[in-house]
Amino acid sequence: MSSSPQTWMITGAGRGLGRALVEAALDAGHTVVATVRGEHALPDHDRLTVMTLDVRDRVAAHDTVRRAAEWRGRIDVLVNNAGYGLIGAVEEASEEDVRAIMDTNLLGPLWLSQAVIPIMRQQGGGHIVQISTVGAVGTMPMLGLYNSSKWGLEAFSEAMAAEVRRFGIRVSLIEPGALDTAWAGTSMRFSAPSEVYDEQRTELFGTAEVPWPAGESGGGTTPADAAAAVLEHVASEDDRRLRVLVGDDAPAQVAAALDLRRHDYEHDPRFVVG
Ligand SMILES: NC(=O)c1ccc[n+]([C@@H]2O[C@H](COP(=O)([O-])OP(=O)(O)OC[C@H]3O[C@@H](n4cnc5c(N)ncnc54)[C@H](OP(=O)(O)O)[C@@H]3O)[C@@H](O)[C@H]2O)c1
Repeated sequence: MSSSPQTWMITGAGRGLGRALVEAALDAGHTVVATVRGEHALPDHDRLTVMTLDVRDRVAAHDTVRRAAEWRGRIDVLVNNAGYGLIGAVEEASEEDVRAIMDTNLLGPLWLSQAVIPIMRQQGGGHIVQISTVGAVGTMPMLGLYNSSKWGLEAFSEAMAAEVRRFGIRVSLIEPGALDTAWAGTSMRFSAPSEVYDEQRTELFGTAEVPWPAGESGGGTTPADAAAAVLEHVASEDDRRLRVLVGDDAPAQVAAALDLRRHDYEHDPRFVVG
């Protein structure tokens, strides 16, 4: 385990998992650049600086990475955490819905990764941590566009991991199951519903009504526990996994998704594993 202080940059850091990551990184003695979109309640701390960034803005993403690197002379760990979910059948999703979620969940991490790679290469290494999801392995009806955005994140990140390994840059895909944040509540966005999907929405969510009431927290792994798992993974230099499951529910969800794929492929007699 590496315990030497590092400089972390974390997007979407005002609340939820991002905020928990800021707190965990500060507790571990690291220096943190936290990016937020607007108002925030992050604590004052001499090892914390807060910058404003909407990750959809490519020019701003490059500029914020440059300013973050100037602050302490390096960025050791970039965590692409900012993201949100969209409930809507594929048929229901408007062009605006689709472009917005791709801009945030797929292109945001892409711009930030592109901006940080030259800095990490120049300093001789670094670690890009993408907050993905178990929903980047399988899919769920009504979450197809969210799934697509995170599958895309995983695809470019897997290729990128192989490209930047020679520069000493690690890449990780963190795949949480359900987290106890506002993700499924007040943060969730909804496509305009069509009544032809009411029955399916009711089967899945217990109601056809969307947006659903914000309600209480949905349970799941606490942000603090999830953040601790990320910190532990990053600190362990022997842990060379690309994909890291977080949360007790995550392994079963990924196993089910992989079984579904394997089931299809096994119909082809030429398909042999191992
Ligand atoms: N919660 C889950 O069950 C779960 C499971 C698997 C993966 N994840 C992933 O975990 C990550 C963190 O989500 P969370 O659970 O902590 O949800 P959250 O509490 O809703 O936090 C999401 C964060 O992303 C920020 N954000 C959204 N769009 C942004 C944009 N365009 N530019 C900059 N920041 C933006 C939000 O900023 P504002 O405060 O300004 O809105 C907020 O800080 C997301 O990538 C999510 O997909 C969550």
